[in-house]
Amino acid sequence: MSKIFISCALPYANGPCHLGHIRSTYLPADIYARYNRMIGNDVLMVCATDEHGTPIAVKADKENKKPIEISKRYHDMIVRDVESMNISLDNFTRTTDEAHYNIAKNFFKDLYDKDLIYREDIQQLYCPNCKKFLPDRYVEGLCPVCGSEARGDHCEKCGKALDPTELDEPHCITCGTTPVIKDTFQYAFKLSEFEDALKEYISNNDNLPANVKNYASNWLEEGLNDWILTRDMDWGIPVPLDEAKGKVLYVWIEAFLGYISSASQWSKQSGKKWEEYWNDYVVHFIGKDIIYHHSIFWPGLLKAYGCKLPDMIYAGEFLSLEGEKMSTSKNWVIWIEDFVKDYEPDLLRYYLTINAPLNKDSDFSWDDFQRRNNDELADVIGNFLHRTFVFTKKSFESKIPQYSNPSDEDEEFRKAIAELPDKAGAYIADYEFREALLEIFKVAKKGNKYFNDAEPWKAVKEDPQKAANCLYLSNQLAKTLAYMLKPFLPTKADRIAEIMNLGSLDNWNDAKDELPTGHEINKAKPLFKKIEDKEIDAQKAKLKENLTTQEEDNMSDLITIDQFDEVVIKIGQVKEAEKIEKSDKLLKLQVDIGEEKPRQIVAGLAKFYSPEELVDRKVCVVANLQPAKLFGTLSEGMILATGESGALLTPDVKAEVGERIQ
Ligand code: MF3
Ligand code: ZN
Repeated sequence: MSKIFISCALPYANGPCHLGHIRSTYLPADIYARYNRMIGNDVLMVCATDEHGTPIAVKADKENKKPIEISKRYHDMIVRDVESMNISLDNFTRTTDEAHYNIAKNFFKDLYDKDLIYREDIQQLYCPNCKKFLPDRYVEGLCPVCGSEARGDHCEKCGKALDPTELDEPHCITCGTTPVIKDTFQYAFKLSEFEDALKEYISNNDNLPANVKNYASNWLEEGLNDWILTRDMDWGIPVPLDEAKGKVLYVWIEAFLGYISSASQWSKQSGKKWEEYWNDYVVHFIGKDIIYHHSIFWPGLLKAYGCKLPDMIYAGEFLSLEGEKMSTSKNWVIWIEDFVKDYEPDLLRYYLTINAPLNKDSDFSWDDFQRRNNDELADVIGNFLHRTFVFTKKSFESKIPQYSNPSDEDEEFRKAIAELPDKAGAYIADYEFREALLEIFKVAKKGNKYFNDAEPWKAVKEDPQKAANCLYLSNQLAKTLAYMLKPFLPTKADRIAEIMNLGSLDNWNDAKDELPTGHEINKAKPLFKKIEDKEIDAQKAKLKENLTTQEEDNMSDLITIDQFDEVVIKIGQVKEAEKIEKSDKLLKLQVDIGEEKPRQIVAGLAKFYSPEELVDRKVCVVANLQPAKLFGTLSEGMILATGESGALLTPDVKAEVGERIQ
């Protein structure tokens, strides 16, 4: 018996789960975990929400909330989604958990004390307008490798992990300003020292799938730089060094440790040692966008810590939707919450597994989903089971009949049933989930043909033993299917077990024992039903209607009255105005807004108004804008005017200087 440590990549707590999460990570991990439990291995499957880093901080900024409020909201939703898909995790925690903070700090300290982390003076992007450093996703621009639009930390197109300073045409995502480069210091990990060890790890590990091996060896070919592990940010785990005030651990170093903190929390609750599982066999299920992190950074960190490296990294490729790339910002996704309102989770589990192998990009389309449900689940598997149960009740008083004097066809079919558990099992053990399911499907199809050819409805009168043999074997296959389907369609498998009085399906090899003659089964209702065209049409229409609606609108475009209230706009009167040398756009104004002294405001009005035209005019002034220097001149507010024509917003004559607009 082996002990197996299974992890699913930690989802960022900045949105609920959609089909892509399930297909690339949770579902394959769950199939693997369920199968291994059934063959008697001792499995520990963990996950957590990844709650630090810019993805959550940016979302919080947009919604004017605290990051922890955002991450709590999505943590709860993610737990709900994962449970609704019957993902059988042993523990699901959060990277904002106190124990996780301690594990992460200790890990950093350990490497620092070993001189594997060092302080480095570096330059980082800084937004002069927002007055802050722009780590990771706070900046966007063009990928230096492939030229497509990329975030500061990572290019989705070519998969390269990036440093924001590498981006071409960078801009601050909050205000659009082009950032400047500023000196600061951070802490870096001596990743380059582990280049040879990693090369050996990647090339000697024959278990690693081709996509992981290929990506990783290409990156290793290019050579490794040291890796900056800290950030100037408020949200995150503080760097555990006195000299590093205001700095936090980069989200990636501590997110990996979420695997460990989730496991150690489980250890506390269960009294079992997670280390035994890690030391026996570790497999990480991830999406292909984070192969770099798991094949380079994480093994590098583990090597530095002195710990065993993962045995397997399984990277699911992308899933598109109706032929287009999924996009959460455009709402071109199917959320799990919506899916399970309309369909049983097992139908999705089936579709996402049978549709394409994990190592190929694949597509979810509603038409194809309907076709596979109707033609495969309902017509083949469902039909076989139903006719077997109904006929057993009708002609054999719900009891498994006797098998004797079998024909060649009977024996051949019996053999196919007997071989199925080992065949399907070998595929699952090899992470070939689709092939396993195809094998199961193939035998179910054979079952239908066998049943048709045997014509038990005729034979029961003409050749009763032939009918009895047919139903004996059909029930054996039905039973085997219950076991075989359990890792893939756990709820449906349990329903078959209930109908057939099989008890719990927790031992894969029990599938190999035939049910005895006389074993009684229960009355059955159909297990699968067809999906009508009109339902599918409605789903397709919904997808289109929802495009770029609701969530993004509510959360980013629309603001609340409180948010508006934060902007203080006052009536001002221009007292003096003059040109700014060398600038053909800017004017320097002194504006009375009812305070002791007039405000000096630099305004981009020179193209539209002469200084004389402005003196004495009443204007609208944003009074609580952070002061900034433009062309070396201090500006303490902003005058409201339209963009294109530069038309000033001027108040009605009644307005008094200093009055607030609200
Ligand atoms: N939150 C990351 C993402 O969604 C994945 C973190 S996986 C872990 O890309 F290894 F760091 F845990
Ligand atoms: Zn900015």
